[in-house]
Amino acid sequence: MSASIGWIGLGRMGEAMVKRLLKAGHAARVWNRTAAKAQPLVEYGAQVVASKLDLASCDTVFTMVSTTDDLKDVLFGEGGLVTGAKRPRVVIDSSSISQEGSAEIRAQLEGLGVAYLCAPVSGNAKVAKAGKLLVVASGPKALYDANEAYLAAMARKVMWVGEGELARVWKIAHNTMFGVIIQNLCEITVLAEKAGIPRHVFLQSINDSVLGSMYTRYKTPMLSNLTFDQVTFTPKLLLKDMDLGLGAAKAHGVAMPAAAATRESVARMVGRGYDDIDFAALLIETAADAGLSLKPDGLTLSDGLES
Ligand SMILES: NC(=O)c1ccc[n+]([C@@H]2O[C@H](COP(=O)([O-])OP(=O)(O)OC[C@H]3O[C@@H](n4cnc5c(N)ncnc54)[C@H](OP(=O)(O)O)[C@@H]3O)[C@@H](O)[C@H]2O)c1
Repeated sequence: MSASIGWIGLGRMGEAMVKRLLKAGHAARVWNRTAAKAQPLVEYGAQVVASKLDLASCDTVFTMVSTTDDLKDVLFGEGGLVTGAKRPRVVIDSSSISQEGSAEIRAQLEGLGVAYLCAPVSGNAKVAKAGKLLVVASGPKALYDANEAYLAAMARKVMWVGEGELARVWKIAHNTMFGVIIQNLCEITVLAEKAGIPRHVFLQSINDSVLGSMYTRYKTPMLSNLTFDQVTFTPKLLLKDMDLGLGAAKAHGVAMPAAAATRESVARMVGRGYDDIDFAALLIETAADAGLSLKPDGLTLSDGLES
């Protein structure tokens, strides 16, 4: 495999993911809009570059930014990765973006002779740091096969779901469920607490029931201790994903009433100014709607739960 890798986007996810590549022995040149976030990667062996165009000579460039427009910006905007005479051979994007936006990006990149693989992920930055992401890819199968080892260095499992933008649909569906579950988990937790069941007892019982999952388990300490300042994913990013879900539902003619209600709940949280906070702060809003004031209830990691 080529050692010529570039990386754009060193936010919570990008930073953790490129570290896995570096730790697996791949050399990487990295760029981030806020340059200060790139510097700590030097001690992991990364070479920090000053501009996106400095990555144009790389064979393969990974991108992990926020939205569809941000991805278009880093690729095609001023000083964008593919705006110079030299271009990478392959772009692999892991951002959670729309199917339509991704198709536009594919058409533009392929028109410039750059191959494009969609590779969105399941798992937060902590999961990424532990190398336990699920990567679901789409695009030309031969391109996936040629780059599978890079993706495997960042993941516990990698899958190819088909041609074109199908992995975007997968990720949109995944995150729609992600939103609906946290909405409902907050609702039933507030119901149980208001009725008299201690919050951590209720959450533990759900985790031990047929409904418990890795997701309900890893969110439990935060929901119990109200440590929403330990941000894994922001309300704004979740709103973006609920909007992507409803946009896809409209495009494909699918009714999604639970997702629609959740979207409005997340939008209210964003509108009320919740910004640099974990999306699970939805619990506070749900409790307030029920006239309940929450206090941390002291669940510790010795209760056997993942954080
Ligand atoms: N957090 C999660 O649990 C999670 C899990 C799976 C997928 N995702 C998805 O992964 C993507 C990144 O999420 P994150 O949590 O890592 O977000 P984040 O911490 O907010 O990081 C966003 C990154 O994108 C960069 N960026 C955004 N707009 C840009 C632009 N116009 N030009 C250049 N750089 C730009 C940011 O640069 P600056 O540092 O300069 O702001 C930063 O490096 C999102 O699409 C998200 O939905 C997140």
